[in-house]
Amino acid sequence: MIPLLELKNVSKNYASLKSFRHYTDSSQDVLKNINFSIHSGESIGLIGESGCGKTTLAKIAAGLEKPTAGQVLYSGTDIQKFNFTTMQRVRKDVQIIFQSSKSIFNPYHTIGKSLRHALENFEDLSEHEMKNKIAAMLERVGLDASFADRYPEKLSGGQRQRANIARALIVSPKLIICDEPVASLDFSIRKKTLDMLNELIREMSLTCLFISHDISTVRYTCKKIAVMYRGVIVELFSLEEGNSLKPEHPYSRMLLNSVPICHPRQRTERRPIPPSCFGKEEFKGNGCVFYDLCDCKQPRCADTTPELNELGKAHYLACHRYSL
Ligand SMILES: Nc1ncnc2c1ncn2[C@@H]1O[C@H](COP(=O)(O)OP(=O)(O)O)[C@@H](O)[C@H]1O
Ligand SMILES: [Mg+2]
Repeated sequence: MIPLLELKNVSKNYASLKSFRHYTDSSQDVLKNINFSIHSGESIGLIGESGCGKTTLAKIAAGLEKPTAGQVLYSGTDIQKFNFTTMQRVRKDVQIIFQSSKSIFNPYHTIGKSLRHALENFEDLSEHEMKNKIAAMLERVGLDASFADRYPEKLSGGQRQRANIARALIVSPKLIICDEPVASLDFSIRKKTLDMLNELIREMSLTCLFISHDISTVRYTCKKIAVMYRGVIVELFSLEEGNSLKPEHPYSRMLLNSVPICHPRQRTERRPIPPSCFGKEEFKGNGCVFYDLCDCKQPRCADTTPELNELGKAHYLACHRYSL
């Protein structure tokens, strides 16, 4: 079956600006040779530490940024080859819910006006139909129709994030990319928002790419999880029966081992803080991106990049320990 969205050998490099006209050579590879696909109806979680390239991947997948190398295929066709009309269809079908709902809305427009703008881009509706659709969508995300007349600053963080979800879903997309949708909310409303999002995904038969730096949030929404480190997808695995996680990559294991245990009696030892590439020099070599911090490295890990190979059913791993 052709995936709904596929990233083939995608790399992204932001050349840094030296002066007004010139770019320096000290450009940074944010994504390195990403191969990733998502089929209709699937929900895949993408986890990784802050700065590893998750938002960049989301923007490239939605066609908001161009990859430096590689292709983004939508229903099997390279989006670079789409003309304006076809690209409009992709823009409608693929919606992003960004982390910060504050910067999404124009502060001078009411929520209703912002939702109307989103709709006007893709649908030709009468005034009456438009109003009804906005009211129904606001109610669907747990706000009432009167929120259409409010300005973004008059909403709490949780309400604004719900309005943000309404803005993405009102155009009836096929794929939603949720980029840390609950990271800016406090714990008391995170679960409620995630429950609502899960329900909407099921009800509207949406395909979902759920991005987070928090493995427990991703696990709540997705059955498949991709782990990213320094711009590379190092592992892709499915949740086992009973939602247990069985990752094999040393980095995925370290991430999992760092999740705090809720029940005090089950806490036997101090949970380690996951390793971070923060402050390290950019990785430019050919070896494994996790070489520095890996506790089971082999000599070839220093100079040969491990490929993302199939380890078992729906389990892909980029680690020399498991390659032939
Ligand atoms: N427009 C940009 N120009 C230059 N560098 C950028 C740009 N966007 C992101 N980056 C850099 O790319 C890296 C990954 O950023 P991002 O994709 O936002 O990470 P994440 O979402 O995982 O926190 C960071 O080092 C960031 O500074
Ligand atoms: Mg981000």
